[in-house]
Amino acid sequence: MNALDKEIVIAVIGAGAMGSGIAQIAAQAGHQVFLQDQRAGAAEQGKAGVAAQLQKRVDKGKMEAAELQALLDRIHPVDSLGEVASAGLVIEAIIEDLSIKQQLLAQLEELCEDDTILATNTSSISVTALAAKMRLPERLVGMHFFNPAPLMALVEVVSGLATSKTVADTIYATSIAWGKKPVHTTSTPGFIVNRVARPFYAEALRLLQEGAADVATIDAIVREAGGFRMGPFELMDLIGHDVNYAVTNSVFDAYYGDPRFQPSLIQKGLVDAGHLGRKSGRGFYNYAEAAEKPQPATATASGEGDSVLVVEGDIGPASALIDRLQACGIQVAQREGAGLLRFGEATLALTDGRMATERARDSGIRDLVLFDLALNYATASRLALSVSLSASDKARDDAIRLFQSAGISISLIEDAPGMVVMRTVAMLANEAADAVLQGVCSVADVNLAMCAGVNYPEGPLSWASRLGKGRIYQVLQHIQASYAEDRYRPSLLLRRDYYSPHSLIG
Ligand code: NAI
Repeated sequence: MNALDKEIVIAVIGAGAMGSGIAQIAAQAGHQVFLQDQRAGAAEQGKAGVAAQLQKRVDKGKMEAAELQALLDRIHPVDSLGEVASAGLVIEAIIEDLSIKQQLLAQLEELCEDDTILATNTSSISVTALAAKMRLPERLVGMHFFNPAPLMALVEVVSGLATSKTVADTIYATSIAWGKKPVHTTSTPGFIVNRVARPFYAEALRLLQEGAADVATIDAIVREAGGFRMGPFELMDLIGHDVNYAVTNSVFDAYYGDPRFQPSLIQKGLVDAGHLGRKSGRGFYNYAEAAEKPQPATATASGEGDSVLVVEGDIGPASALIDRLQACGIQVAQREGAGLLRFGEATLALTDGRMATERARDSGIRDLVLFDLALNYATASRLALSVSLSASDKARDDAIRLFQSAGISISLIEDAPGMVVMRTVAMLANEAADAVLQGVCSVADVNLAMCAGVNYPEGPLSWASRLGKGRIYQVLQHIQASYAEDRYRPSLLLRRDYYSPHSLIG
């Protein structure tokens, strides 16, 4: 399918944060762009905002002044909707309200040619519902940009029940021509990103509520071991708790109360208190200038200990640790076994979703210490450990000393099923798998969406696949057994993948 020709005029309705950014993208790609807003002067202001943003690039020598001028000459602020009639594609980015958007679409259908594509930048309204009253519902498609639109690569191309495949494919190709990374999705609550990202916040909130660790420690583990750019609490503070809580509630309601999306009382408390995050000066963190930033809990072990690490069997995704420890002076001996590390009194294992205390009893290993998942064990600067309640203090200290010797900061957390990074990644992969199972998107698109839309270090299903067949499925089974809650039920796709002779998620 071909992208829209550059000769085709684009119209953007709504010149707020998103509309202005979208107008900039289309003009940058060479189109003439009408920018319309019902508020007098808003379209001019939107264009001025684009000019001010891009002037910074000119000042830094990253853009020619003439190029900026040419781009600005292609953006035409207009007051009346009638002026957009010649557009071949109209993208609406007005207020997030079903009936106001429906009214606008009805007006556009009267004004524009029948073959004009109408697109909506809605982040939460059903494209199917928006199209319901249209004369030609097949021409409406979601074109969901992320904020700030000129910088974020992802575009979710959202097909409602009636959207024509040709229209969706044209918008997909046009997004690529505009320098974006599009994905196809059906119009289901949260589309891809706002749905699959829920566990990133939800599991952190749950761990906090259950006292597994404090805010700064969970954030540090997710960043330094998980490789995410921001921890969940920092990110919620940035997004604003009112916004994040509202999205969670709307997805929870839209999925008829599925416990997987259940909102958190902790977040409700912050919203009720007006602690909305950075914008109100206070959320999980205090943003007052004089306020001290809380530090993550980092455990240390003093004294001398063993320097021989016995590696029993294959430790799977954590194998890169061995070379790293060896390079730091730890002697390594290998023998057959069940994927365990023995160091001093400690026996260490990668979490499989069971609590350390439970696994210690199941396996008869009293001094069991579990370590959490890391994106990359060769470079992670922090790891979380959970110590079995049956383990000795010496075993705990030996485990800390082992990682300390390689310069890895250790955060001891309470004995929580699946720990922090493993549990987060397992639940992200679970949600991604269900989205694929339900035909919302493909495996490749869910991976791309989470990397290009919210900067995840790896796509959730690609990560799950890299960890080895069935590992995430097993982790989820164990977490579900611990809680006996439907929230942790493994996706049928992960179960099918586990039993299948070939990978369904790789
Ligand atoms: P905004 O409040 O910054 O801008 C909305 C603009 O639309 C305002 O300038 C308003 O005057 C104008 N407007 C309202 N009704 C209109 C009408 N009937 N005709 C013409 N103009 C009208 O809002 P923002 O953040 O730009 O969001 C716009 C849309 O984009 C919403 O649907 C939102 O859900 C969606 N979106 C927002 C994202 C964000 O992070 N802000 C991200 C992705 C999508």
